[in-house]
Amino acid sequence: MTTPNSNRRGHGFATRAIHLGYDPASEHGALTPPVFMTSTYTFESIEEHRAIASGEKDGYVYGRTKNPTQAIFEARLADLEGAEAGLALASGMAAISATLWTLLSAGDRVVIDHTLYGNAFILFTTGLPRFGVSVDVVDLADPAALAEALKAGPKLVYFETPANPNLRVIDIAAVAEAAHAAGAKVIVDNTFATPVLQRPLELGADLVLHSATKFIGGHGDLLAGVVVGRRGDIDQIRAHGLRYLTGATIAPLTAFLLLRGLKTLELRVARHSSTAALVAETLQSHPAVAQVSYPGLPSHPSHEVAARQMSAFGGLIAFELVGGLATGHRFLNRVALAHRAVSLGDAETLVQHPASMTHAQYPAEERRRHGITDGLIRLSVGLETPEDIIADLLQALDEAG
Ligand SMILES: Cc1ncc(COP(=O)(O)O)c(C=O)c1O
Repeated sequence: MTTPNSNRRGHGFATRAIHLGYDPASEHGALTPPVFMTSTYTFESIEEHRAIASGEKDGYVYGRTKNPTQAIFEARLADLEGAEAGLALASGMAAISATLWTLLSAGDRVVIDHTLYGNAFILFTTGLPRFGVSVDVVDLADPAALAEALKAGPKLVYFETPANPNLRVIDIAAVAEAAHAAGAKVIVDNTFATPVLQRPLELGADLVLHSATKFIGGHGDLLAGVVVGRRGDIDQIRAHGLRYLTGATIAPLTAFLLLRGLKTLELRVARHSSTAALVAETLQSHPAVAQVSYPGLPSHPSHEVAARQMSAFGGLIAFELVGGLATGHRFLNRVALAHRAVSLGDAETLVQHPASMTHAQYPAEERRRHGITDGLIRLSVGLETPEDIIADLLQALDEAG
């Protein structure tokens, strides 16, 4: 697996994920950064407050918009994504909504891909229209559909790749080129790939979002979100989307846990990916399995695009059993090592049924139209011993089939 191996200081991905933005000498030699548990900051003079508040001088005013532990995480993740700046928030949905509330106004249009995380989809299709934003739901893997939607002059084009829950893959460079030619900004949710495997900004995206709850945190013990991009955009999202539109501030301790997660991100994602590749092949050759969607399989409809824009294919797999929904339910109830749970990117293997869990917000008809079939199962392959994960899935398949 290839990883980026340079930055301004010429250090590789893992080195930057461990060291960037923090010097122990600045904090009594403490190896790990302190957690700054403070809601407010003090000033030597009223003039100093004015200088910091106006941005003339670096510093902190109030904890809703900025905290030093959070700032280290933001600098580190921005660098790993190849961005100028980053902003961490209280959840992935907070990152999405703070970004959209900042960039959009009544009368604007947005184009989204038809396959998104359920709550993101409902934010676009139900939430934003209440405030006068029009949303076109499009198959972004179809260049003609995108070209048609761009004629209406959208401000933003938004998608996930690989997408939740069915691992659809969108060609980031192609969408960015078409969107920019039409004057639209491109936002990519990079939660499934992480910057270890895919860096959308290098392919032309303007902003990248994550549910940092997932692989970046990596241990199922926090909720967080992050958005990275150009400094001007990020400053705007902090000043408006975070400060008064959502107030969805990340807790200092959560920022600390994210810094800990980042230290092993490259190792963990490599292991998630290698085990998932084995699991995907095993599932594909099992007679009880009707179809497997994993971007690393040559049978994936966009395998070539995935191989171009990702360095490996991540820990998520979607599949459908021959017996459809009923067999799928039996399978879900028979896994013993894997847990039935809606999150992903954790050390534990997690399995869920999108139609009744993460994507229940989609109207049933929309789900069907967008390929989120009732029998689809989503698997987040964990960090356990690969043979144990495979043995558990095989026994559940044999019992369910
Ligand atoms: C792709 C994707 N984006 C965003 C989110 C929302 O993140 P959070 O749950 O941290 O609010 C999720 C959550 O599952 C997700 O899977």
